[in-house]
Amino acid sequence: MASEVHHPLFARFFTWFSEKMEPELGPYRSELVSGLSGRILEVGSGNGMNFAHYGKGVTEVVALEPEAYMREKAAESATRVAPKIMTVDGNATALPFEDDSFDHVVACMVLCSIDDPATALREARRVLKPNGQLHFFEHVRAGSPAKARVQRLLDDSRIWPWVAGGCHCSRDTVGSIEAAGFQISQVRDETIGVKWGHTNPHVIGCASPHTSA
Ligand SMILES: C[S@@+](CC[C@H](N)C(=O)[O-])C[C@H]1O[C@@H](n2cnc3c(N)ncnc32)[C@H](O)[C@@H]1O
Repeated sequence: MASEVHHPLFARFFTWFSEKMEPELGPYRSELVSGLSGRILEVGSGNGMNFAHYGKGVTEVVALEPEAYMREKAAESATRVAPKIMTVDGNATALPFEDDSFDHVVACMVLCSIDDPATALREARRVLKPNGQLHFFEHVRAGSPAKARVQRLLDDSRIWPWVAGGCHCSRDTVGSIEAAGFQISQVRDETIGVKWGHTNPHVIGCASPHTSA
């Protein structure tokens, strides 16, 4: 599975950049995960920047990461934090876990990068307990039509995915979460980074599996 996601240069750049961005992104990471409890699955955990933000109520974080360098860095991060973190190789589109086995699934700046986010979201839904929740912090398609057109161009031309390790900047991620059988319980728009940046529109929130879906 790991060989399916191989971005060695981007992984090294992101590891450096994510540490530089911690003063700005840390409060969002904390908002995303600090209140969670029980058994957590974090998909595409990268180099583990969320790990230090998990709170005392967590019994275990399973950190799934298919990119080898990122996973190695995540394993190093796991040794520096209090919560029990298990790093696992695997792909979000075919989760190697049983149905109904997690209290929460965390997706942080990852649904932009997964090749098939619809399948990944269905998988997240499958492994969540019926009363579990999906927690997301993602950059998304802009509300402004002009910026959304630029985002679409960058994605369709493959320029942005090539530069940014498979990332897409024009995705309607909240729409995809709903289409995968979740009901959004909370969502908030945030603008992060420079105003003209094509990845600055973000959403942070959580969603519950539809009981009827
Ligand atoms: C922009 S990084 C974000 C990392 C981390 N979630 C964070 O908040 O810093 C995107 C991550 O998604 C991972 N990724 C890409 N495709 C994936 C897939 N199919 N399944 C799981 N993770 C994937 C990448 O390897 C990378 O670690």
